[in-house]
Amino acid sequence: MPLGYVFTSYGGPGSQRFLDLPMPEPGPGEVLVEVHAAGVNPVDWKVREGMHRAFLPLELPAVLGREVAGTVVRSAPGFAVGDRVCGPTVGGCGGYAEFALLPADRAARMPEGLSFTDAAVLPIAAGTAYDALEALDLRPGESLLILGVGGGVGTVAAQLAVMRGIEVAGTASPSKHVYVEQLGVVAYDHDQGPSRVDAVLDLVGGDALRAVCAERILTVADPAVAAQYGAQPLKRSGDPGVLAVLAELVANGKLDPGVRQVFPFAEAGDALAVVEAGQVAGKVVIGLPTGPRH
Ligand SMILES: NC(=O)c1ccc[n+]([C@@H]2O[C@H](COP(=O)([O-])OP(=O)(O)OC[C@H]3O[C@@H](n4cnc5c(N)ncnc54)[C@H](OP(=O)(O)O)[C@@H]3O)[C@@H](O)[C@H]2O)c1
Repeated sequence: MPLGYVFTSYGGPGSQRFLDLPMPEPGPGEVLVEVHAAGVNPVDWKVREGMHRAFLPLELPAVLGREVAGTVVRSAPGFAVGDRVCGPTVGGCGGYAEFALLPADRAARMPEGLSFTDAAVLPIAAGTAYDALEALDLRPGESLLILGVGGGVGTVAAQLAVMRGIEVAGTASPSKHVYVEQLGVVAYDHDQGPSRVDAVLDLVGGDALRAVCAERILTVADPAVAAQYGAQPLKRSGDPGVLAVLAELVANGKLDPGVRQVFPFAEAGDALAVVEAGQVAGKVVIGLPTGPRH
């Protein structure tokens, strides 16, 4: 039976464990994929904590994770067995596993030259960054401050903004300044930054917006608190065309998706703990073998 890394009750990491699971059965419009890499995101521990329970009720145990790259083993319209694909998982869970289901209308075929580890982080963090830049709709020469620029969403948002000719500043802890400056960002410590910018992208939440001054403020981190500061929440597009664009940019060496740590599947819990600690630079990925396993 295929293995998955699950949580068995809502709360802290104590209920996380590996479990043998039945092979996922694809429904209409779903692709069954043998997973070769799974992206690790803050939302994974937030789901485990029960923070999304009201709008994402799960039957427990539930497999952690919501984005993967792998090989199609049971096809759906638009895909063939053996295709290399990436995408978000069905139902907002099921990524840290040997096999996962993807909605065919939100998955993308991987171009030549794109690795599974890079492809696995495109649906959530990079996709969010792309959608945020589209929503902010800045012109070349306008300025953007990214709060929390050193993490998964921030490093991609910074690169996409620089590509659009936008002047990018960002807040990050000092240990990440060299990293983000290499991406074209003017780096500031937390709670510092330019006195005025055209727009702010908030990836931190809480009171991080207290001192910022901009006409357009978009948040993906903490909409309830950010609303007090005039921030608008981001609405994700879910457009697989975005995933395809990002995949091409990475395959052509124009975008670095920021994968800095790849953990073996056996260390899935350690991978999530690193992200849960909140100071991660770039992206964390769980890597699984690329040969057939079952
Ligand atoms: N709504 C959506 O669709 C969506 C999608 C993706 C992500 N998100 C949310 O967006 C947030 C960011 O996601 P992510 O994947 O980029 O997270 P991440 O990879 O964990 O990065 C978060 C970054 O914020 C930095 N940070 C923490 N406190 C900070 C502060 N006070 N000031 C400035 N930087 C600070 C962290 O490092 P340093 O403190 O060391 O600089 C880290 O680099 C999370 O809350 C996530 O759940 C939402």
